[in-house]
Amino acid sequence: MPGNVVSATLRSGLFTRVVGKRILFFQEVPSTMDEAARLAASGTCDGTVVVASSQTAGRGRQGRSWVSQTGNLYVSIVFRPSMPALPMLSILAGVAAARSIRKTTGLDPRIKWPNDVMLGRKKVGGILVESVVQGQTVDYAIVGIGLNISLETQSDQEIASFATSLNQAAGRTVAPEDVLRQLLQDLDSLYLQLGQAANSPLIDSPLIEWKTLLDTLGQRVEVTWGKDRITGLAEDVDDLGNLMLRRDDGRLVTLTAGDVTLGSSA
Ligand code: BTN
Repeated sequence: MPGNVVSATLRSGLFTRVVGKRILFFQEVPSTMDEAARLAASGTCDGTVVVASSQTAGRGRQGRSWVSQTGNLYVSIVFRPSMPALPMLSILAGVAAARSIRKTTGLDPRIKWPNDVMLGRKKVGGILVESVVQGQTVDYAIVGIGLNISLETQSDQEIASFATSLNQAAGRTVAPEDVLRQLLQDLDSLYLQLGQAANSPLIDSPLIEWKTLLDTLGQRVEVTWGKDRITGLAEDVDDLGNLMLRRDDGRLVTLTAGDVTLGSSA
């Protein structure tokens, strides 16, 4: 990604109240998650954003690494939510990522539980939430979002089999600053909405939008977590975004994490 994507984003205006009130850009860091955590631990404000052009140790869920070459978006945001709001952050990030892709490219992204951002059967983005909690208080949470804008999948057969990029899917060059601006604006409005939801039960929950984006529901799936694997029908998600899986023996189990492989619909 030539130049500084944050300067380009700000040049055309960023209209947010919390998310992005402070934004830091790095040419290269080990991981934006660590930079954001360092800032959070030293008291940075709610909504601080860290963006890097590349990462040398980008990480994903389940201890996996996240390919982080230049040309894609690597963003981490510091939040200071209440304890009940903490599980919603991942959901907000999924909805914001999907909205930003749809608004800037016209593509129709979907979500594979728990929060892989998909275009067709290929992954275009991922979300990682890490938090520090003391007793009943959330010290801080870091929401990490990686979006493939111009990921070179053709040169790597393995990546090409499961990942895609916005440029590839849209068949044109997508401006990363447009996606970043939209992502931060959507995340900001969803985060503000979350703060108001307790007082205004009529506000449409982001959870409803997230559920409509979920491709997983109604499908037979295999869920793996480390060496554990469990198969069944993905029946629903609960209010915290956990997957409710109907096993073949009829029992309903609630899964808080895992990797889903889609089978056929029921
Ligand atoms: C996943 O496994 O799907 C989650 C991937 C999250 C990647 C993002 S890129 C920005 C932030 N920094 C990281 O090291 N990881 C997250």
